[in-house]
Amino acid sequence: MALPPSHPSRLKYVSLGVLVLQTTTLVLTMRYSRTLKEDGPRYLASSAVVSAEMLKILTCFLLVFVENNYSLRAMNLLLKEEIVNKPVETMKLAVPAGIYTLQNNLLYVALSNLDAATYQVTYQLKILTTALFSVSMLGKKLGLYQWLSLLLLMAGVTLVQWPSESAGEQKVLTAGSQMVGVMAVLMACVSSGFAGVYFEKILKETKQSVWVRNIQLGLFSFVLGFLGMMVYDGRSVRQSGMFQGYSAITCTVVVLQAVGGLVIAVVIKYADNILKGFATSASIMVSTLISYFLLNDFKPTG
Ligand code: C5P
Repeated sequence: MALPPSHPSRLKYVSLGVLVLQTTTLVLTMRYSRTLKEDGPRYLASSAVVSAEMLKILTCFLLVFVENNYSLRAMNLLLKEEIVNKPVETMKLAVPAGIYTLQNNLLYVALSNLDAATYQVTYQLKILTTALFSVSMLGKKLGLYQWLSLLLLMAGVTLVQWPSESAGEQKVLTAGSQMVGVMAVLMACVSSGFAGVYFEKILKETKQSVWVRNIQLGLFSFVLGFLGMMVYDGRSVRQSGMFQGYSAITCTVVVLQAVGGLVIAVVIKYADNILKGFATSASIMVSTLISYFLLNDFKPTG
């Protein structure tokens, strides 16, 4: 029997599929945008994070507007009721917002220092952190095969990171950068697991619209991201503006990042964080092939 398009079960698989596509394109575009040789200054990663947040918030407002049958009045009432009149509920979203902001910045650090394939494989450790947080915070139970898959995943990640014996001079020179990249990814793994499960808990414990929740999350993320940008790149922003160095490819990264956030919110609501992890790891193979054949920045060793 054909399911209506908004049926939760269909939404679950459609959103998981879209996530695979989105993750692959985002990683490759981000890596490409950070390695592209351009005249003039490169765009500020901290500014791209802020732009993506702005785009997400605007889209969520639009979606809440649609959910309220295109009535501005109904939308205003709902937002006032849910966001302004429930400060405690709203404040709860400050936690994942802060963590995600840090994580979104770490991602750029990682991809400025690691090739797309290594980054992708290492970042899959977040499946393990997510499972651990799901078990401890949501009381999820995992079967033997599920735990075994997680261990296998860890073994894979370790192998990828194993230093090769033939490390030449070139390798030694970039070892520091590699280390920075790996540390950034590992921190992002812990943050991803915790923030994802925390958000899942909030979404599933209340029946509030996922878009309203995302506006709450986005507002905090925007403020924190903006502060981060001013602290980190303030001088540069005052000198040449927030959008310095933006090109078509930068805008693509920002849009992909924003779309990703929204798709993830839907996935967390209709599936869960563990399934989300396996969906994104399906994009590893695609990223690896493209990194090797098209970008030429990955040479697979034994
Ligand atoms: O790698 P990971 O799956 O943890 O990435 C989650 C991404 O989704 C982050 O960039 C985060 O900002 C975004 N997100 C979002 N809205 C949510 C949940 C996550 O924008 N409700």
